[in-house]
Amino acid sequence: MEEDQGMSNMGSYEEKIEQFSWEQAEQELGYQKDAMINIGYYCSDRICETGRAAKLALIWEGYSGEIKQYTFNDLRIHTNTIARFLQNLGIQAGDRICLFMDKIPELYFGFLGILKMGGIAQPLFSAFGGESLLTRLEDAQTIAIMTQKKHLGKVRKILPDIAFLKYVIVVDDDGSKPLQESEISFNLEKENPVENFETFPTTAETPSVLHYTSGTTGKPKGAQHVHYSLIAQYITSKFVLDLNNDDIYWCTADPGWVTGTSYGIIGPWANGITQCVLDAGFKAETWYKFIQDHKVTVWYSAPTAIRSLMKEGLEPIQKYNLTSLRHLCSVGEPLNAEAVIWSEAAYGLPFYDTFWQTETGSMMICNYPGMKIKPGSMGKPFPGITATVVDLKSHEPLQKPGVVGLIAIKPGWPSMFRNYWNNEATYKSKFIKGWYICGDRASIDEDGYFWFVGRDDDVINTGGHLVGPFEIESALLEHEAVAESAVVGKPDPVNMEVVKAFIALKPGFEASDMIKLQIMNFIRKRLSPLAMPQEIEFLDALPKTRSGKIMRRLLRAKEWGEEIGDTSTLEND
Ligand code: WT7
Repeated sequence: MEEDQGMSNMGSYEEKIEQFSWEQAEQELGYQKDAMINIGYYCSDRICETGRAAKLALIWEGYSGEIKQYTFNDLRIHTNTIARFLQNLGIQAGDRICLFMDKIPELYFGFLGILKMGGIAQPLFSAFGGESLLTRLEDAQTIAIMTQKKHLGKVRKILPDIAFLKYVIVVDDDGSKPLQESEISFNLEKENPVENFETFPTTAETPSVLHYTSGTTGKPKGAQHVHYSLIAQYITSKFVLDLNNDDIYWCTADPGWVTGTSYGIIGPWANGITQCVLDAGFKAETWYKFIQDHKVTVWYSAPTAIRSLMKEGLEPIQKYNLTSLRHLCSVGEPLNAEAVIWSEAAYGLPFYDTFWQTETGSMMICNYPGMKIKPGSMGKPFPGITATVVDLKSHEPLQKPGVVGLIAIKPGWPSMFRNYWNNEATYKSKFIKGWYICGDRASIDEDGYFWFVGRDDDVINTGGHLVGPFEIESALLEHEAVAESAVVGKPDPVNMEVVKAFIALKPGFEASDMIKLQIMNFIRKRLSPLAMPQEIEFLDALPKTRSGKIMRRLLRAKEWGEEIGDTSTLEND
């Protein structure tokens, strides 16, 4: 699958590898070392200063078909207004402010408004239940939460447990439902627009965003990013998403996750690109109509969505005019070769796979317009990124092609996370022998293409979202009937993996479909629909190591039909 190199922003990959430097990206943005750099400013004010104030920044469509449009000047003023509002409340630079809302315009303006006043934005997925929310707010000692009426119930429930949270800001208060005394009403349409706001003078290493991600053990970790990440998000949007001035770009990710901020807010807007947002769930026809109506040209999505579209077949595609599309990218899970080949047949365009993580902040290993795609491969390191695979045990780079090792990246790229909030020990443990170890297994072929193999830990990737087994197991133990539990990923044709729980019940409780449903609901409400076990299997007792630890890996291996053999290799966590 070859493309015309001359037409893309990247041009020749080989030449870019030779010529590229991060300094070039800095220069393009007009950033000078040690000067102020603020993501909020670069995504709005700077675009206006460079003659694009009247250009559309956001085309937003709600679930009922309502459409709202905002120019870059609107973006500038709305983010100013929110920044001033937060400042007037007494919120200080460095404070953590959580965004807990659906994909409404206020989420996008709030994110940049927080950054403009020097705050640290903590976006959380609005489908999270109380316990998921509580753990992350507690860890970050979040001072304020911006939310919608519809999510207030969850916030009110946990409020008594979080004395540090001073401000609950309701962004869609229309007076229809009385707020509680401590809650603060904010309405963008009623607020006095702030024409001039002095952006807080953040510099390269000033903290910007805190994104929570799950690991195998312990609580979720807050990957802490800095304003300098902009350099990488800007240039990868230009070279990998191939964004140009007249593009209409659609990123399907929710800003509760890193794709939705790095490539659903920061990178594209820093390039002055018009972005579309659809605040509605997945449905093939709705998605195709959205592409047709807004003439989307560049589309960034995820394998689970693509596999769901594949299931719907060609019929819905024929009903809509999708000829505006010119470049498609994917992230979050392995993109199988069949999906790449199918999309080429269905849309006349392949999906370009990109690999990266919450921790990396920007794309690391990708396929580029102009570079041959090998369907099923993640592609090659972005110019400016040094990536390899290292031996599973010695962590030395593997010299022979085709050997499976751990994906490792040389630290120092602009958007690398700078810490796990409050958890420097875990942060440090990710760096071994001068490499950042991603926690994924892959091999590199003789042409330098990376091939994903799987995760190196027990984290479950369901539909492109990571869920930590420990968090679910801990929540399961809070259910009155559960004595012991182990949670693993189980193969799934659409979501790649779904959550499966093995449970030993307490004496006096009988296994039944009823209790299964109760437990599923219990997790869905406390954690999220993603974390809810799709399958529960009751066991009399869970398999344990000699020291009494539950052997999660043994259960996982069974689900995947893997050879178990000598169980001693499965004993360590
Ligand atoms: C993990 C990171 C960064 C965007 C969303 C996910 C898996 C990500 C790919 C890909 C195979 C992938 C890895 C990675 N992953 N992209 N193209 N092929 N696996 O961010 O929640 O931090 O998850 O997602 O396992 O480590 P995240």
